[in-house]
Amino acid sequence: MTPRALRFPLILINLKTYQQSTGAGAVELAGVIEAVSRKTGVCIAVAPQTIDLRPVIERTNIPVFAQHIDPVGYGRFTGHVLPEALTEAGCTGTLISHSERRLKLETIGSTIKRAKEAALYQVVCVDTVEKGQAVAPFRPDSIAIEPPELIGTGTPVSKARPEVVSGAVESVKSVDANIKVLCGAGITNGEDASAALKLGAEGILVASGVVKADDPRSKILELAEAMA
Ligand code: G3P
Repeated sequence: MTPRALRFPLILINLKTYQQSTGAGAVELAGVIEAVSRKTGVCIAVAPQTIDLRPVIERTNIPVFAQHIDPVGYGRFTGHVLPEALTEAGCTGTLISHSERRLKLETIGSTIKRAKEAALYQVVCVDTVEKGQAVAPFRPDSIAIEPPELIGTGTPVSKARPEVVSGAVESVKSVDANIKVLCGAGITNGEDASAALKLGAEGILVASGVVKADDPRSKILELAEAMA
């Protein structure tokens, strides 16, 4: 198995546009993530900003995700993010329709299609169980349930809204049992992470709890040990 292959349970760390995880900070944090992943055997992927993808890919051996792609092809699409360019750079996958980069349902469908054509693993973010059910027929590789009101709050979805996690698992799996269901928003410690797995999630998405931590290494280690 190649070091960049995805395994579950998965931790996907979204670096967003935080100052701490921009540029050199992204590369440094990805190195820490790689070291923790090696130590614990847990698969940990990272989603840096587009401009930081290549340096992170070149300096680490973990799965690297884009935060966004556009459903365009080669040609006249100035300013867009071309899926094939990410594959060529060595990306494993991409987030689609993160709640900070929301897409219409129709665009989610065309973006999943383009990501598949470019061999990028797709993690589509949804804010409700109903949205998850609407996205599932597009057959993305993975759907992540993230109630936006909990993002960045430190109040974990797995404890504050457990019914949303288990509801998303149930409704997505009823459409296609092969779609992996992840959850995120407010996850900051090992207890939150293991609660997510108990609810049926196959991994977590996390950002501020790691990026803004005083000691990101020990936070990542705590999350990984809870999921090992
Ligand atoms: O993509 C992950 C994210 O939106 C969750 O953010 O800061 O609540 O872990 P956070």
